[in-house]
Amino acid sequence: MQSPNPPAAVYSDTAVRQFAIMSVVWGVVGMLVGVVIASQLAWPELNFGIPWLSYGRLRPLHTNAVIFAFGGCALMATSFHVVQRTCQVRLFAPALASFVFWGWQAVIVAAAISLPLGYTSGKEYAELEWPIDILIAVVWVAYAIVFFGTIGIRKVRHIYVANWFYGAFIIAVALLHIVNSAAVPAGWMKSYSAYAGVQDAMVQWWYGHNAVGFFLTAGFLGMMYYYIPKQAGRPVYSYRLSIVHFWALIFTYMWAGPHHLHYTALPDWTQSIGMVFSLILLAPSWGGMINGIMTLSGAWHKLRTDPIIRFLIVALSFYGMATFEGPMMSVKTVNALSHYTDWTIGHVHAGALGWVGLITMGSLYYLIPRLYNRTEMYSMKAIELHFWMSTVGIVLYIAAMWIAGVMQGLMWRSINPDGTLTYTFVEGVKATYPYYVVRLIGGVLYLAGMLVMAWNVVMTIGAGHSVRARIPLPAAAHA
Ligand code: HEM
Ligand code: HEM
Repeated sequence: MQSPNPPAAVYSDTAVRQFAIMSVVWGVVGMLVGVVIASQLAWPELNFGIPWLSYGRLRPLHTNAVIFAFGGCALMATSFHVVQRTCQVRLFAPALASFVFWGWQAVIVAAAISLPLGYTSGKEYAELEWPIDILIAVVWVAYAIVFFGTIGIRKVRHIYVANWFYGAFIIAVALLHIVNSAAVPAGWMKSYSAYAGVQDAMVQWWYGHNAVGFFLTAGFLGMMYYYIPKQAGRPVYSYRLSIVHFWALIFTYMWAGPHHLHYTALPDWTQSIGMVFSLILLAPSWGGMINGIMTLSGAWHKLRTDPIIRFLIVALSFYGMATFEGPMMSVKTVNALSHYTDWTIGHVHAGALGWVGLITMGSLYYLIPRLYNRTEMYSMKAIELHFWMSTVGIVLYIAAMWIAGVMQGLMWRSINPDGTLTYTFVEGVKATYPYYVVRLIGGVLYLAGMLVMAWNVVMTIGAGHSVRARIPLPAAAHA
C-alpha cells in the first residue's frame, strides 16, 4: 500500500459501489434460500408439492446465490477498489467495468430463473446451462481486461500482494469455467458434457475443488491482505511470507481435486495424489492465516474495541479450522467415515459462513462508509450485534453438523455379529432430525445478522450528508 494516496475523486468507484450493495442484497437472498432448504430437511412437507420449490431445485439456487452472487459481487467490488488504490490509478475502461456489473447481474438473474425451473447441467457449482455459461465467459473476460488493464497502467512499479491473489483468482476461474463447461448443446437449455464417465468426474472435481481454492479462497485472501492492514493500521506481518504463501497455495490447490472422489472408479494412485497434495495444503493455508492474524501484532487491543477487526480476525480463525479439517478429511480412512455425511456440510459451512462470510462482512464494513464519504457505518453497535449473531449462528450450524455427520457415519458402518447392518438407513435419517433443527436455528441467526447489516448499510448511505466532506482525514485513511 503506497502513501500518500491520491484524493478519492480520482478513482472510478461506480462499479465498486454497485457491486458492494448487490453483495449485501444477494447475501440476504442466498442465505434466505439456505434457511428454506434447511427447513425442508427438517420438515420435508415445506416443498408444498410445488416442483420449483422442491429441495433438488432450491439447493443449487442456494449454492449459486451465496457463492457467485454474494461472494462474486464482494470479490468484484473489493478487487476494483483495491487495484485502484494500490496502483494509484483510475480503473482501466470504467465503461467495461459497468458492463461487468450489469452482465454479472444478468447471469445471476438467469440462474435465479432457470434453476427453479429445473434447467441444470447436473454438475455441482456449474449447473447453469450453456447459453448462460457463454455469458459468464464473456463477462469474465471483460472483468479480466478491466483488472489487468488497471495493473498495466499502474503508477507504482510494485504490484501489491493482494493483486496477485485477485489476479490468480481471475485467471484460474476463467480456466476452470471454460474447461469444465465444455459441452455439446442439445437444445436451448439442454447439453451433454464434452467428457464421459470417470474423466467427466475428474474434470468436474478438478473444477469443484479449485472453485473452493480460487473462488472461495484466493480472492478472499486478496481481501485479507488489503483490509486487515488497513483496518488495523499496521503493515502486513511478513511481506516475504505473503509471497511464499501465494506461490505455495496456487501450486498446491490445483492437484487436490481427486480427494472428492475417494473410493470411486478413479484410479487409486490418482486418489492418493489428491490426498497427499491436500495434506501439503495445510502448510500454505496456515502460513497465510498466521500472516493475517499476526498483522495485528502491537494492536491486539483493537480486538476488544473494534467489531470490524473482530469480523476479519475471527474469519481467519474459521479459515484455519476449515483448512485443518479439510486435509484431515482427505485422508482416505477418515473420508471413509465422513463422505456422504453431514460432516462434509459442517466443513463446507465452517469455510463458507466462517471464512468467506465474515471476511466479506468485515471488508464491506470498512469499504461502504468510504464509498459514500462517511466516517464510519451508521451504527457501530449494530456491527457488534451482527458479529455475535453470526458467530453464535456459525457455532450452532457447524457443531450440529459435526455431531450429525459422525453419528451417521458410525451408524452406517455398524454391523451385527452375523454381518447384517445394525441400523437401517431410515433410522439414521430419524436420528438426524434434531440436529437439522439446531442447524436451522443457527442459520436463522446468521441470516438475521445479515439483515441487521442490510439495515445498517441503508442507514449509512441515507445518513443525508457526507461526514467525511466536513472532517478532513489523514491521507492514509482515504483508501
Ligand atoms: C443462513 C445461512 C446458510 C444456511 C442456513 C445454509 C444452509 C445450507 C443447506 C441446508 C445446505 C444443503 C445441505 C445438504 O444438502 O445436506 C447448504 C449447502 C451448501 N451451502 Fe449453505 N447455508 C447458508 C449459507 C451459506 C453461505 C454463506 C455459503 C457460501 C459462501 C454456503 C455454501 C454452501 C455450499 C457450497 C453448499 C453445498 C455443500 C455440499 O454440496 O457439500 N452456504 N447450505
Ligand atoms: C486445505 C484446505 C482444504 C482441504 C484440503 C479441503 C478438503 C476437503 C475434503 C476432503 C472434502 C470432502 C470431499 C468429500 O468427501 O466429498 C471437502 C469438501 C468441501 N470443501 Fe473443503 N477443504 C479445504 C478447505 C476448504 C475451504 C476453506 C472451503 C470453503 C471456503 C471448503 C469448501 C468445501 C466444499 C464446498 C466442499 C464440498 C464439496 C461438495 O461435495 O460439494 N474447503 N474439502
